[in-house]
Amino acid sequence: MTTPIGHGSNGSGLSPAEFAATPQRHRELAADALLRADNLVAGYLPGVNILQECNFFLRAGEIVGIIGPNGAGKSTLLKAMFGLIPVRGGTVTLRDGDITSAKAHTLVTEGVGYVPQSNNVFVSLTIEENMQMGAYLRPRTFTARFDAVCALFPLLGERRKTKAGALSGGERQMVAMGRALMMEPSVLLLDEPSAGLSPMFTDEVFVRCKKINAAGVSIVMVEQNARRCLQVCDRGYVLDQGRNVYTNTGPALMNDPKVIELYLGTLSGSSEAR
Ligand SMILES: Nc1ncnc2c1ncn2[C@@H]1O[C@H](COP(=O)(O)OP(=O)(O)O)[C@@H](O)[C@H]1O
Ligand SMILES: [Mg+2]
Repeated sequence: MTTPIGHGSNGSGLSPAEFAATPQRHRELAADALLRADNLVAGYLPGVNILQECNFFLRAGEIVGIIGPNGAGKSTLLKAMFGLIPVRGGTVTLRDGDITSAKAHTLVTEGVGYVPQSNNVFVSLTIEENMQMGAYLRPRTFTARFDAVCALFPLLGERRKTKAGALSGGERQMVAMGRALMMEPSVLLLDEPSAGLSPMFTDEVFVRCKKINAAGVSIVMVEQNARRCLQVCDRGYVLDQGRNVYTNTGPALMNDPKVIELYLGTLSGSSEAR
């Protein structure tokens, strides 16, 4: 049973999306989460924290979007949850197990997949070889998994002998997602899957995410293409300066006057201009 985020007055003077982003409300809502981050503090340089007590959760079956200005810490949040940068404070939890600072390869075997924003395919390898790299921790599952991934994305099978470097940006993104799916993850972390793609391919990426989600994979998606992202997501977060400042369902965020004014006006304009 999932707790609704709530609408209308909450007695706090905050908008529903601001209220849902408070630490107390986060803890209530995240009770049945599959993946969650609590009070996460992380950064790159000594003494400089990028994530400032950031809270986030993903329920089983959901697609959750993370939007926000450039430099807000969106990629940093994904990296911190995937064990790619040291966590200085707070916790990351997967299915009630503490995975704070667990190494990426451990998380992959625990069912977490991660697709970074760029350089996410081996360009000198064929599609098939890229898929083998995705399954290197469980090579015996390769054939069955490749078949399953090709059922979702037939192009990967049809062009299995093609070098990834010869593919378009949209096709490479498909290879990157396919490779992450080779380990049969229950959670997929996607960092700006539509970055740099033409409008047609951008749309395809969102359709593909829906397909992956329908196949039983819960998804966390960081996106610059904020409106489009919120349209496909069950819930969304607005991150600003390392903090989750708003959270609600996708449609509620899209219609929230403050979110529109502060984050969607310019963001949607720039993405539509591409
Ligand atoms: N490897 C790095 N070393 C030092 N600072 C970094 C590094 N990567 C990102 N940062 C800084 O962390 C902040 C958040 O970056 P990032 O998480 O990439 O933002 P977003 O993905 O929201 O655009 C930015 O100020 C950025 O300059
Ligand atoms: Mg980023």
